[in-house]
Amino acid sequence: LFAGEVEFLKGVVAMSGLPPADRPEVCFAGRSNVGKSSLINALTGRKGIARASNTPGRTQEINFFTLGDSYYLVDLPGYGYANAPVQVVAKWQALLKQYLQGRQTLRRAFVLIDARHGVKAVDEEIMALLDSAAVTFQCVLTKTDKVKAADRDPVLAQVRAALARHPAAFPEIVLTSSEKGDGIATLRGIVAGID
Ligand code: GTP
Ligand code: MG
Repeated sequence: LFAGEVEFLKGVVAMSGLPPADRPEVCFAGRSNVGKSSLINALTGRKGIARASNTPGRTQEINFFTLGDSYYLVDLPGYGYANAPVQVVAKWQALLKQYLQGRQTLRRAFVLIDARHGVKAVDEEIMALLDSAAVTFQCVLTKTDKVKAADRDPVLAQVRAALARHPAAFPEIVLTSSEKGDGIATLRGIVAGID
């Protein structure tokens, strides 16, 4: 599914620009800088197909990638702090919420959580929004290469406790490092199993 058939389709700045809802779609949501774009690069094996950078607020549009004819992968702007003007950020946030609540073909939202920081209040807000829109979501811990194994357990426990409060949450948490490749094959398998 992921072998050599990934293409960037378009960046969208308004709901009217969304591509036709004609195939299943999965999206990657999370706080600014959590590693959404890097994860898409790792999953697709195409470094740089999604633009990543250390500046929070790098992704400013809803970016659609096609996986053959069978799926859309969607890279979202981050929520929370972004290095951009307030009004601009407010516009992406509104679009992000409209998209998460209103996209008929959205099969699963992956909510990325930094393995060093755990679930924050803004993540809880997005999870509550997904609950109310009845969009199944699954947590992916990112940047696991930056934490020692021993420091991971309390974060995992905190994430599990948060998920238990959200009816739309899928219980399995995926641990990943886009840098080292850990968990990437597992996540590929999960995406490939969504229909
Ligand atoms: P926005 O588009 O700004 O919301 O950010 P994003 O969530 O798309 O994050 P992005 O992929 O741009 O990554 C942010 C920074 O984290 C970059 O400097 C990445 O190189 C770094 N990063 C992402 N994933 C990993 C990882 O698994 N390990 C490490 N060590 N760094 C990572
Ligand atoms: Mg990004």
